Amino acid sequence: MIQNGINTLADSYITHPVAQPEDKMQFSEEAVAELEEIISHYPERKAACLPALWIAQREYGGHLTPAAIREVATRLGTSQTEVEGVATFYTMYNLRPRGRHHLEVCTCLTCAVMGAYDVVHALEHALDISIGETTADGEFTLSEAECLNYCGNATVVQVGDHYFPDISPSNCLNLVEELRKSEKYTPALLADSLVKIQTPGASLKGGGSFKAEEI
Ligand code: FES
Repeated sequence: MIQNGINTLADSYITHPVAQPEDKMQFSEEAVAELEEIISHYPERKAACLPALWIAQREYGGHLTPAAIREVATRLGTSQTEVEGVATFYTMYNLRPRGRHHLEVCTCLTCAVMGAYDVVHALEHALDISIGETTADGEFTLSEAECLNYCGNATVVQVGDHYFPDISPSNCLNLVEELRKSEKYTPALLADSLVKIQTPGASLKGGGSFKAEEI
């Protein structure tokens, strides 16, 4: 009897997620529609955890706050611990604020041989930060990245959803200047692109910054 009651409550929670009282859900209407479209491709709601986190990363301004993780858990009808486990496992989810542009320099073998650390040092010097830090004006975060699968054009720098090949200590400064002029917030663009690539139908119904034909 009690077991039945528990099952009924759990089932109802999974199909009709309820927000925890202390949280204000922040997903826009478009983001909710996009998520529900994605969920419809999976046998159970929680299987959409990866794209849900990308959407959350976009909706929460580029990084996953504890409230963002709770919102994903609520919308997927799963536990916060489970979502947190996924968010902390993959380095592509940002758990703290990033600069408006996240410069990820590949320092894996081929890029390292081709001078990736010279690029890193040039960027550190130009931006007056070290790897892992964000500039005081919030414009740039600098990180190392594992192989970006673009080894033929080493050294490679990823910024949001764009790869910049053949980067050297001199042309990396041009890249910084070009990015300064751009008005885009690149971490959110990456989240948009990845969700749409994973679930093509989402690009037609969901919000986000890209039109389907742009990806
Ligand atoms: S080693 Fe840098 S892209 Fe592969």
